[in-house]
Amino acid sequence: MKNLLVTGGAGFIGANFVHHMLKTYPDYRIVVFDKLTYAGNLNNLKAVEQNPRYAFVQGDICDATVVRNAIQEHSIDTIVNFAAETHVDRSILDPDAFVRTNVYGPYVLCEAAKDLRLERLHHISTDEVYGPIREGKFKEADRFKPTSPYAAAKAGGELLVLSYFQTYHLPITVTRGVNTYGPYQYPEKAIPLFVTNAIDDQPLPLYGDGMQVRDRLHALDHALAVDVVLHRGQLGEAYNVAADMEHTNIDVARRILKLLNKPESLIQPVLDRPAHDVRYALDADKLGALGWEPQVTFDQGLEETVQWYVANEAWWRPLKSGEYLDYYQKQYTNRAQTLADEVLKS
Ligand code: NAD
Ligand code: TYD
Repeated sequence: MKNLLVTGGAGFIGANFVHHMLKTYPDYRIVVFDKLTYAGNLNNLKAVEQNPRYAFVQGDICDATVVRNAIQEHSIDTIVNFAAETHVDRSILDPDAFVRTNVYGPYVLCEAAKDLRLERLHHISTDEVYGPIREGKFKEADRFKPTSPYAAAKAGGELLVLSYFQTYHLPITVTRGVNTYGPYQYPEKAIPLFVTNAIDDQPLPLYGDGMQVRDRLHALDHALAVDVVLHRGQLGEAYNVAADMEHTNIDVARRILKLLNKPESLIQPVLDRPAHDVRYALDADKLGALGWEPQVTFDQGLEETVQWYVANEAWWRPLKSGEYLDYYQKQYTNRAQTLADEVLKS
């Protein structure tokens, strides 16, 4: 393993992974392959732009020709697939791109990896494929029961990747990570949305009662987990990645406001997300047996992340305009309509 194609590497976790790998492995070359959707951002990779071991290709993972050309041109031996449509709320409004990128995309990558005889295809999956769990934790062999179009499409893509191991002996591995936060996260996800809104004294929209629980993993720990599975994981296996740092959404909102010295009155309860999963929780013992454990506590990681957004306003402020505002308008119009429909039905 020397020449990695990191698909979706201009997004949040992908970019954190690229920084980690270039720093850690002085003999690896990294080619980021990214469509640059609204969530892809070359500013996430500015720090490595001049690195001779880094290259960028703009392309869609659903486009087999462009994928194969990139693999051949750069003598790629390993694909690490982060590319996906990732926002649950967007998947509820418009699932189309989710089905395409999250299901057909992994299929294209599997076919390319098979035909071009790559050493490894590592696929990034999510805790959301299991669906919600009120108590206890899911293990890797537990059944999938996704509830959102995002999670269902991720489940479909992952199952395809796993099937290529069974059917064609394609050397694949999979990681299923919990909710991840840290620098470079697009400000539509809860933590960066809350932080950037709070900086501007804008309301923090809290869905429903805010009692839903998420396990919070730092992006660096997510990157480390992928690194460990790439080097020490068993072919054909999926590994849960969990931080064991569970918090309710309302607790996260309050912590952010406290760190920024802002009043709790900024928390604004809004209409709940349809099919809002009450809790995700994973057992990560299988990954622990490979020697991985999270390095960043939530206290430390949240504080550093809040400070990163304070210090990097030039990174996020331009993102909160144009398409971003159109999306919020569409989302809240849609949810107001849902509420009106429910009232009319009752
Ligand atoms: P992100 O939305 O920040 O980035 C996704 C990246 O993929 C963007 O750069 C985008 O341009 C690119 N992309 C989208 N469609 C593409 C296509 N068709 N072809 C090529 N590139 C395309 O996402 P993220 O939060 O960094 O998530 C990365 C991966 O990790 C995803 O597979 C996601 O499902 C998974 N994951 C995320 C979390 C989380 O909390 N963020 C948790 C577990 C798993
Ligand atoms: P999100 O960051 O979208 O991640 P996911 O849905 O993949 O878990 O949301 C995290 C939690 O925060 C989730 O329970 C939904 C909630 N949430 C809000 O309360 N308000 C918001 O504006 C957003 C985006 C999310």
